[in-house]
Amino acid sequence: MTATAPFLPWNRPSIGREEEAEVVDTLRSGWLTAGPKASRFEAAVKDPLGVEEAFAVSSCTAALHLALLAAGIEVGDEVITPSLTFCAAPNAVARCGGTPVFTEVDPVTFNLDPEAAEHAITARTKAIVVMHYGGQPCDLLAFRKLADDHGLILIEDAAHALHAWRDGLRAGSAGDLAVFSFYANKVITCGEGGMIVGRADLVQAARLLGRHGIDSSVWQRHGKRRTADYEVTVAGLKYTMPDITAAVGIQQFHKLPEFTARRARIAASYDRSLAGLPGLRLPTVLDGVRHGWFLYPVLIEPVGGRTRDTVADMLLNDHGIGTSVHFQPVHRLAAYRYLDCHLPVTEQIAARQLSLPCYPAMTSADVQRVIDALHAVWA
Ligand SMILES: Cc1ncc(COP(=O)(O)O)c(C=O)c1O
Repeated sequence: MTATAPFLPWNRPSIGREEEAEVVDTLRSGWLTAGPKASRFEAAVKDPLGVEEAFAVSSCTAALHLALLAAGIEVGDEVITPSLTFCAAPNAVARCGGTPVFTEVDPVTFNLDPEAAEHAITARTKAIVVMHYGGQPCDLLAFRKLADDHGLILIEDAAHALHAWRDGLRAGSAGDLAVFSFYANKVITCGEGGMIVGRADLVQAARLLGRHGIDSSVWQRHGKRRTADYEVTVAGLKYTMPDITAAVGIQQFHKLPEFTARRARIAASYDRSLAGLPGLRLPTVLDGVRHGWFLYPVLIEPVGGRTRDTVADMLLNDHGIGTSVHFQPVHRLAAYRYLDCHLPVTEQIAARQLSLPCYPAMTSADVQRVIDALHAVWA
């Protein structure tokens, strides 16, 4: 790294004047909380997916909690989930009183393996939460059939996969419910935010639970004579998305095709320029997949004294380039060690995996800088 090269972060959002203007419009509108802009954002995400309903919420974690509550997960229920994921889904299962059943992933895509999931089904299994690792959808057709054959609820954790496809199905359209994240590092962002989409009955249950269990929204009551004229029909929580947040989401969503195309071009540059570095395994995209490229995940075989951690350290210390790891296997985290779970494929991937910078705010020079740095590390 030259003395003047600025730090290149692993991720940085792309926010423009359109988002700024939409937020200012909201601030001036007199309506800041969940209202017309949250509804517009819901429609924008829902319509291309072809799902029945959508509910914009404060985070994907909130969406997962609501999805599992709406699915009726309670004490004694088992929910099949990968361990090679973020802790949000397993935590939400545990908060509902259920038990996450950590299940092995496919060594090529790092997605939940349908066969392993089938073997994990017991009389107590109530749901499967799949996750589309890095933006490559899991085998949606296989999981839909598995859920139907066994009478299970299928929930897609599509936090990484807005605008991704597999076998003609959009990620987020095959589950009984699916959730998206608009966290600061995601393919589109509101800073914090999420959405739950899917079957009308389940999303309506989630919506009720996510607004205190109140039978009408504050926007629906706005301007009515008695705004406090409502009923609480279930003991709910508050997970709604404010319009200030939705304003950012609406404008980000317009840019999603352009963002995805840029991510794909960066991935293609890495594919071309990093192929052949010994011990470096580049991502495999299956036929029939349109990848969302939230992550560009590589595996680094521990050979010749080079490991994932030494490579990450050299990229950072010698070249000023940030990377990330997806993920620490959840079954090895303190809250879940009591399950005494062993997942050799997951553990092997987790020890070798590194996520390279891959986001639309990167310039071509940034991409080349990452490529040159990796060649230097391997030299
Ligand atoms: C797979 C997955 N699910 C859920 C989440 C949680 O998203 P949020 O931060 O919007 O709650 C994340 C966050 O990184 C994630 O990677």
